[in-house]
Amino acid sequence: MAILYSKYVLGSLTLQNHLVMSPMTRNRAPGNIPNALMAEYYAQRATAGLIITEGTSPSPNGLGYPRIPGIFSPAQVEGWKHVTDAVRARGAKMFVQLMHCGRIAHPLNLPAGARMLAPSAVAAGGEIYTDAEGMKPHPAPQAMTGEDIRSAIAEYVQAAKNALTAGFDGIELHSANGYLLEQFIRPNTNQRTDGYGGPIKNRARFVLETAEAVVGAIGRDRVGIRLSPFGVFNDMPLYDGMEVDYTYLAQQFDARGLVYIHLVDHSSMGAPPVPDAMKATFRNLFKRTLILSGGYDAGRAESDLAAGKCDLIAVGRPFLANPDLVARWRNNAALNAPDMSTFYTPGLRGYTDYPALKK
Ligand SMILES: Cc1cc2nc3c(=O)[nH]c(=O)nc-3n(C[C@H](O)[C@H](O)[C@H](O)COP(=O)(O)O)c2cc1C
Repeated sequence: MAILYSKYVLGSLTLQNHLVMSPMTRNRAPGNIPNALMAEYYAQRATAGLIITEGTSPSPNGLGYPRIPGIFSPAQVEGWKHVTDAVRARGAKMFVQLMHCGRIAHPLNLPAGARMLAPSAVAAGGEIYTDAEGMKPHPAPQAMTGEDIRSAIAEYVQAAKNALTAGFDGIELHSANGYLLEQFIRPNTNQRTDGYGGPIKNRARFVLETAEAVVGAIGRDRVGIRLSPFGVFNDMPLYDGMEVDYTYLAQQFDARGLVYIHLVDHSSMGAPPVPDAMKATFRNLFKRTLILSGGYDAGRAESDLAAGKCDLIAVGRPFLANPDLVARWRNNAALNAPDMSTFYTPGLRGYTDYPALKK
């Protein structure tokens, strides 16, 4: 395991190893404010090289799920400071994932005065969980006006600045898994007829303008992006031209010098696989750091790093269930199994109570 546990230079940061904790929504933030329990959870896992937080909203409008954190209010920034302090003390670097849910939301999950916004007024199929009334069908969002688009970009910029105030090393734009940024990229959710809809050059405009604006605010070494080419989560069907669109995006993000691209592959969760050719396209076109994720164990992680398929490996469920995952992988120790029934429930059970190995 020569590469996985060695240091890695990510932009201006040195990571203590090549293992990244994937962003995972855990719904432990009542009132959308990060708290001491969350600081404990992340600190337990801070032997990773890089921790990417759970999806965190840059705007009241982006809080689509119950009990997810934000990073737009002073109380949220204060709450995150305790988290980043606890993580830094154990050596991990930390990026906050900026997740604006867009149409994947419900008015019952949103604070007073917030709006469900999306590129077009197209409701997602299926249902979403609310604390107040359980499962509810996805309502149709409002199509964003030009003013709404400008405000949303300004919210991302402010959130990126807040992230540095809160002690994060950078931000990850969540442009995957059917949330707002991907809703602009994909033709099923973007039916606009203005400069933000139509050909890929236009469908990519919102995410590229957002990326440029946050890079302008906090610097390119502090901005990464998560993408899910061939992802279908949250009612985002496959379509002809997907590969061409994502090839264009790889080129555009390379031109803007983002510090990393983080690709999602949910085939280990039953989703269609991301073709190897698509991953290779990103590897060839994007010159800075490439992170691959999805279904990794230690052996596959080391062999993909050794083969040069990527620079870093991100791991989700094994980190969720094993606070000391790095030590367990290193020592070839048995792993705790993740308990799906407590992925999104409030409280410490299934959150901070997964046991570490006895010393
Ligand atoms: C409980 C849970 C919550 C998740 N929340 C997010 C999220 O907030 N943002 C995101 O980009 N991906 C999210 N994901 C996807 C993971 O980041 C990762 O891509 C997925 O779990 C596959 O990797 P794994 O096989 O290592 O678990 C979530 C996954 C799980 C299991």
